[in-house]
Amino acid sequence: MGFGRGKVILLGEHAVVHGCPAIAVGIERGVTAKASLAERDLLRLAPWSLSIEPDSRGEEPLGRAFYEALSLYRGRPALEVSAEVELPAGAGLGCSAAIGVAVLDAIDEALGIERSRTDLAEAALNWEKVFHGNPSGIDNSMSAVGGVAVYRRGEPLVPLRSNKPLHLVVGYSGESSSTKEMVASVARQLENDPLRVNKAFEGIEVLVRNAKLAIEAGDHIALGQLLDLNPTILSSLMLCTSKLEEMGQAARRAGALGAKMTGAGGGGCMFALAPKRDEALRLREVLGQGAFVAEVSA
Ligand code: MEV
Repeated sequence: MGFGRGKVILLGEHAVVHGCPAIAVGIERGVTAKASLAERDLLRLAPWSLSIEPDSRGEEPLGRAFYEALSLYRGRPALEVSAEVELPAGAGLGCSAAIGVAVLDAIDEALGIERSRTDLAEAALNWEKVFHGNPSGIDNSMSAVGGVAVYRRGEPLVPLRSNKPLHLVVGYSGESSSTKEMVASVARQLENDPLRVNKAFEGIEVLVRNAKLAIEAGDHIALGQLLDLNPTILSSLMLCTSKLEEMGQAARRAGALGAKMTGAGGGGCMFALAPKRDEALRLREVLGQGAFVAEVSA
């Protein structure tokens, strides 16, 4: 069975596209896939009941991405891949990357190809490019490798170690957004006002550096404070929505150590850092429909 996990960016989204570091975690929720020999190439996606044929120039990004994936394998037989997606799409949890990683992992298994998870992440980058145009590579890396890690574009993941698990609660705003459009919007802002946007990126980088130390020290109070400093910067880049802000406030009022949007923004998900497991379960109720707990060990 192929598997690609979802991811939550703790700090550094968008800045990571422009070369700054980011910290992310891989979560257990993701995409599973199975590939088998068939009469023609086909990708089936549940729960959406989609059947996709590979198509290098088609309108449907999944068809183009499937074409990219298959073109990695020379002289192969026809393949049918069935994937089960357990992540909301367009919600900042790395759904498209997780599908790509799971599909490639399943094809590798069907063809008896051994590939490390790091090489799998790299192989999935072209898939991700179809969806996001200019991906930093963080989503496919975290999807394939997991854990808690610092990522910088073009460099290997640096895993973080801590003796304290992170109790995260992910909440879904119900608003979907396009990562491609959000990334393009920040790129436009950077071009029009480099001074302001580079200052924002510098601020984010300082938060990331301090968060790395806080995670390694198991200091989740400090980590929560750093998370809470991020939404102002992200709002200045026009990435937060009022719904995401309200959810963050509700989580803080209910005892979260910190909370922020995660991923591309403009909708999608936010997360809260809970002090302990039972409080994470309580926060899940506060964050409403679609919220779930993700416990991650560094
Ligand atoms: C999307 O999950 C994270 C962004 O930083 C885009 C990227 O890094 O490719 C918004």
